[in-house]
Amino acid sequence: MDEITQKVSDRYAKAASTGEQMCCPTSYDMANLQSFIPEEVLKISYGCGTPAGLKTVSQGETVLDIGSGGGIDCFEASRLVGQTGHVIGIDMTDTMLEIARRNAPIVAANLGYPASNIEFRKGMADAMPVDEGAVDLIISNCVINLAPDKRKVFREMFRVAKPGGRFTISDIVADQPVPQYLIHDTEKWGDCLSGALTLTDYIAGLAGAGFLGIHLITSSPWQVIDGIHFFSVTLTGYKLPATAPVSPVRYATLRGPFSRVVDELGTIYVRGVPQPITQDVATLLSLAPLASHFVLSPDQVRLDQTDGRWTAVCPPEVSCLWQGHFALLAGPFVEAADDDHHIFRRGEPMEICDKTLAVLETTGYEPHFAIINRASQSVSDQADCCSPDGGCC
Ligand SMILES: C[S@@+](CC[C@H](N)C(=O)[O-])C[C@H]1O[C@@H](n2cnc3c(N)ncnc32)[C@H](O)[C@@H]1O
Repeated sequence: MDEITQKVSDRYAKAASTGEQMCCPTSYDMANLQSFIPEEVLKISYGCGTPAGLKTVSQGETVLDIGSGGGIDCFEASRLVGQTGHVIGIDMTDTMLEIARRNAPIVAANLGYPASNIEFRKGMADAMPVDEGAVDLIISNCVINLAPDKRKVFREMFRVAKPGGRFTISDIVADQPVPQYLIHDTEKWGDCLSGALTLTDYIAGLAGAGFLGIHLITSSPWQVIDGIHFFSVTLTGYKLPATAPVSPVRYATLRGPFSRVVDELGTIYVRGVPQPITQDVATLLSLAPLASHFVLSPDQVRLDQTDGRWTAVCPPEVSCLWQGHFALLAGPFVEAADDDHHIFRRGEPMEICDKTLAVLETTGYEPHFAIINRASQSVSDQADCCSPDGGCC
């Protein structure tokens, strides 16, 4: 184990044994969890999200939790997969594993299971003791930022996922690269800060490992240190089946609200214009949330503004106020344009005015953006025009 990982493990071993409160924003329904998970586990919940994919787990599935800690998410997964399902929790810290293992039979009894359907295994996130292609859903809650080699972790995730499997992970990311003086601060590394990747690098790592359809589920601000914004994201993505299922779909027409997008396989779509697509692209676009943005058809379907399937959101023709907001596109497209001269690139912060903020908060856009505010003091509210040529929309 390298020095930083040893320090992280010591840190979490100590936290688990003292029951110290640590880390980040989550939104668990604690009253619900208390009905079957012992307090000893709940009080050492150190996540930064609620891997919402759990809500989409089907009975009988195999779920893997990377960095399972005291086991909170494994126990929730155990309930959702049912007695016929299987849950594997991996952690490198013995104290965490002891607490999780001790509570597994208690949770099983509370759920009315004859035996626990969870195995807690000792292991590292970048070399997981899990067979290739064994897992339907990978979850992880505030762990990958702690690993020194995240790309290796992402590659391991892809290896253990079944073809057709998926991940839903919550983690801390930063709006800009974390400088060396913070990276070498082991205290802040253990606090889930210094090891954070930018959103761009995080998604690029997952995409580089082979995942597709990567998109945002939730985001939430966490801390600002020396102007660097750390925020939590919950992301989902897919390992597509090795061969695309045969589909009659030959064309995809972008419905909106984006006016133009580029998918992760490089195909460009302009709203309303039918685009010929391959079987691989048809498989990708049929996944949520991509499917909701397209009309997928064996034939060319052209849309115009009179068609009920066409969607667009234009800001009102009024001046705008710059109040420090930045929008980060977090998938499922690598590039996307709105109707007001903005081109968003996945993970890159783009400064937006209050009118654009209102647009991005509408139903079609909102799920795809993390919004941060970089203004550290109140800003003057002098109205301005948002484009260099003075025009909006
Ligand atoms: C912030 S805690 C989160 C625990 C749990 N996911 C939760 O939500 O309560 C991080 C956990 O990940 C484990 N961990 C950190 N880095 C790891 C690595 N590289 N491999 C395996 N486990 C790791 C730690 O031992 C600790 O239990």
